[in-house]
Order: sequence, then C-alpha cells, then structure tokens
Amino acid sequence: MITISRIAENKRVIKNIFRLSAEFAGNIRPGQFFMIKTLDNSFLLPRPLSVNQVTDNKVTFLYRAEGIGTTKISTMKMGDDLQLLGPLGNGFDMDKLRGRIAVVGGGIGIAPLLYLTECLGKKAEVFLGFKDCVYTVDEFENYSDRVLIVTEDGSSGEKGYVTDYIDYRSYDAVVACGPEIMLNKIVKDCKENNIKCYVSLERRMACGIGVCLGCTVMTNYGSRRVCKDGPVFSGEELFGR
Ligand SMILES: Cc1cc2nc3c(=O)[nH]c(=O)nc-3n(C[C@H](O)[C@H](O)[C@H](O)COP(=O)(O)OP(=O)(O)OC[C@H]3O[C@@H](n4cnc5c(N)ncnc54)[C@H](O)[C@@H]3O)c2cc1C
Ligand code: FES
Repeated sequence: MITISRIAENKRVIKNIFRLSAEFAGNIRPGQFFMIKTLDNSFLLPRPLSVNQVTDNKVTFLYRAEGIGTTKISTMKMGDDLQLLGPLGNGFDMDKLRGRIAVVGGGIGIAPLLYLTECLGKKAEVFLGFKDCVYTVDEFENYSDRVLIVTEDGSSGEKGYVTDYIDYRSYDAVVACGPEIMLNKIVKDCKENNIKCYVSLERRMACGIGVCLGCTVMTNYGSRRVCKDGPVFSGEELFGR
C-alpha cells in the first residue's frame, strides 16, 4: 500500500490553496484519502489528504498549506517523488446515495467532493460555502447542473452560510465535508427533516491505518477510528453525540 510516486503537477490555485497530482494506478472510492510524506524526513508523520480527483493513472489532491507538513508538500516540484500510503478509509457508500443528493462543502472541505460529484453525475446538486475567496467551483460545474456558491462576505454568489440555502425537503440524502460546526448543523437539520446524511470527518492522524487510536471519535454506536471506520460517518452515528 505504500508507494513512491512521481509528482506530475503541484501548483498554487489561490492564496495558500494548492493542487498536487501524482502517479497512482489502482481503484479509489470517492471519500478515501492518502497519508502523504516527503522523502527528506523534514516532517515525521505523514499527513492525510483526501482524493480530489482521479484521472488516468494519476490521483489529485487539493490542499491548504497550513503548517509544517502541508507547507513542505507545497514546495515539491514536478518530477519529485512523494511517499503515498493508501487509498485509506471507507469512502462514500455509493449504493446508499440514490435519488437526489445535496453535496455540501465548506472551505477546503470541498476537496473530497469533486470526485464524489463526478461519480454521482446528474443526481448531485452542489452547495459550496467559502469565507471569502472561492476556488475550483468551475470544476464542479463540469459534473453538476446546479452549483450554488455562498460566501460569508457576499463577494461571490449568495451571502451568508451555505447551510442557509439548502432546502432539505428536496433531497433524498445530503453528503457533506467541511468545518465541524457546519457538519453538526447539517446532521441536525437532516435529522429534523428525516433524511439521510453522510459526513466526512477530520481528525489529526498518526498511523492512518487504525493502529494508534489517535483519531478516535465517540459515536452513538461507541468509539470509532476516523481513519479506518471513517472518515465517512452517517448522521445516525453522529447525531447528538
Ligand atoms: C481524512 C482526512 C482528509 C483530509 N483531507 C484534506 C484535504 O483534502 N485537503 C486539506 O487541505 N486538508 C485535508 N485534511 C487536513 C490535513 O490533513 C491537515 O491540514 C494537515 O494534516 C495539517 O498538517 P500540517 O503539517 O500542515 O500542519 P501542522 O503543522 O501539523 O499543524 C498546523 C496547525 O493545524 C492544526 N491541525 C492540523 N491538522 C488538523 C486537523 N486535522 N484538524 C484540526 N486541526 C489541525 C494543528 O493543531 C496546528 O495548529 C484532511 C484530514 C483528514 C483527517
Ligand atoms: S490515525 Fe492511527 S488509528 Fe487512526
């Protein structure tokens, strides 16, 4: 599962948001992630990044250069080698996503939702929320007829929080990734409207393969490891934790 992979592209999208493509041949489910490390040991633990897109023999990541690890990754060049461990995690269960699906992303939480939207095809209506600057929304428009943009400051699209614009009664299920406060609201709203929801959680990770228990969360069914049992959890598992 560990591969040394050549970087095909690593480019700044906007501000501290980057897109990296690396060689990878293998099946990947939407919502899965990789643990990524540079080969120079400039940081010890690999960092988890979600699969943003899969194209012929390449996997693409959309990431925010945040701290030591992701900033180092952002300096890597085309032709450099990276260590990839994955694909990891459960990913979204596509058999459960039937009917009309609202796909909701907040900030860099949009990363795993592009490949999901592509796989869902026309079933997906997409809601993307950003604080101010907006990125990669045109890529979602390639796969969905409805992509609603919401910014907190109103500089692009609608103004406010993305969760204010979802008419839950129009959907059979909601899928979301983004800040925990947004996910908690979506889980609660879905429960109140009696519709299914599936959210992708983030936790700090050390091993990424279910061994260290560092990413454990409490759910209604007991403790679960985000890396192995998730990162995708159903609303029923999480409501009212
Ligand atoms: C399953 C999964 C998928 C992810 N997918 C993506 C993705 O596609 N794109 C992306 O940009 N990011 C993603 N992340 C988050 C990303 O892994 C972290 O931003 C990254 O590990 C931070 O590493 P760093 O070395 O840049 O920061 P560090 O130097 O390790 O930390 C910088 C600061 O960020 C805080 N921090 C770091 N990680 C987290 C975290 N997970 N939650 C809360 N605070 C944290 C630290 O406490 C510290 O204050 C994902 C996380 C998980 C668990
Ligand atoms: S990161 Fe080690 S168990 Fe999840």
